[in-house]
Amino acid sequence: MSVHPSSHAAPSGRKPITLHRLREMHAASEPISMLTCYDAAFARVLDHAGVDCLLIGDSLGMVLQGLDSTLPVTLSDMAYHVRCVSQGNRSAWIIGDLPFGSYQQSPAQAMESATALMQAGAHMVKLEGGDWTVDTVHFLTQRGIPVCAHLGLTPQSVHALGGYRIQGRDEQAAATLRLHARQLAEAGAAMLVLELMPSAVAAAITASLPIPTIGIGAGADCSGQVLVLHDMLGLGHGKQPRFVRDFMQGSGSIDAAIRTYVSDVKARRFPDPKLHAYL
Ligand code: KIV
Repeated sequence: MSVHPSSHAAPSGRKPITLHRLREMHAASEPISMLTCYDAAFARVLDHAGVDCLLIGDSLGMVLQGLDSTLPVTLSDMAYHVRCVSQGNRSAWIIGDLPFGSYQQSPAQAMESATALMQAGAHMVKLEGGDWTVDTVHFLTQRGIPVCAHLGLTPQSVHALGGYRIQGRDEQAAATLRLHARQLAEAGAAMLVLELMPSAVAAAITASLPIPTIGIGAGADCSGQVLVLHDMLGLGHGKQPRFVRDFMQGSGSIDAAIRTYVSDVKARRFPDPKLHAYL
């Protein structure tokens, strides 16, 4: 792999993705493509392939560090990987996950943690949780930090949720998700990840909100899609969840697989409601 500075050039013809541009895409019903990304080399590949948003997810604990959950991931782990991605990226929108324990105590604690990620190169921070995060979302957004909320399966709460299970299956749970989604949008969240829930629940939330939703295992009717990079490159170990598609199948290179992902998300060919969604 070349380390010559010319490999660092901005992808031709693409203006930087901004919050304004993401809002335009949402208003025009153009699906938003997002993948997780943890280092500069992949950031370059994803950026050149036209991925709109790079998420430095705390999934790096499981994907890169080989852990059983995201709980041990630290703020300094996250800041390190946000900085790596930021070095390789030129035009994609960068979202950094606030890890477990870095925002739960108070809005002030969240502000300090978000500051570390923004100073490392994030454009937006993501945090997991329902109504109890509303004050924090408000606090951060009032202070100029774009926030992506995250509902449904929230992996940092895996032990409280009793495992990596589908959320919102009964009407009461679905109503709670709808309520929390509205409260988070009203508090100022600019984006909302919906993870592992029936398609109809995600579709109802998406239709009711003024902000884009990004689905993972949440069906085809979200405003955009995200997958864990290593899963969609066929590098996940063990049985893969239903919502994962291995884009290396039929692709001759990583670059081709990423480009297929982007074009399939944009054309709403992925996810396939019959193959990758939950009822
Ligand atoms: O940490 C992560 O990668 C995530 C995605 C699965 C949405 O939060």
